[in-house]
Amino acid sequence: MERVQLQLGDKMFFRKLNEKFVIDHYNKDGKKIEYGIDTPIGFMGIQYSYMHTTSDEELLQVVPKEYRSQCTFSLMELNYQIPPHTDSDIEAIINFYIKTDDCITQFYYPPDDNVPRQQIGNQTDGTIFHEGYLQKSVRFMAQPGDAYLLDVSKPHSVVPTNSGMTDRKCVCLQILHKSFDEAVKLLQSTGYIDD
Ligand SMILES: [Fe+2]
Repeated sequence: MERVQLQLGDKMFFRKLNEKFVIDHYNKDGKKIEYGIDTPIGFMGIQYSYMHTTSDEELLQVVPKEYRSQCTFSLMELNYQIPPHTDSDIEAIINFYIKTDDCITQFYYPPDDNVPRQQIGNQTDGTIFHEGYLQKSVRFMAQPGDAYLLDVSKPHSVVPTNSGMTDRKCVCLQILHKSFDEAVKLLQSTGYIDD
């Protein structure tokens, strides 16, 4: 465990893009997937929708032209804290934050195989962890307009810092079939990630 952690520097979990992005307008094109629970006061958790924005072309500039056909957009809306988890079927995602509500995105070191994990409905290769079994790594608090490339194959959670219901939205650009390291190189080649 110790050795793995020494090999994983801060830059191995996320990279902040060096520009801000304003998303003027977006349209939801239907629900894609959700993780959470229905409660008497409504759904609590995280919802992804198919979507398009008036800024699609601008957002796609961060990826070299020849890879844009391997990118898909979705809208992430979150209204509750999200426990540590890995995402399903994807490693490299760029989040363009519209609203952040001062939430913290917390990453954790990859756990040993014997760390307990569970899957919930809709999860394929992604899993949920109990925070007590994980060791915290780096974290960030995004602001509206910020964009971050994330390695969502490493455990991460979303921790609200404000009281009451959370209101957090971002456009997710999934870079399919690319590892996080490959995605970093792609965004360095377009100049949106500094070396
Ligand atoms: Fe996630």
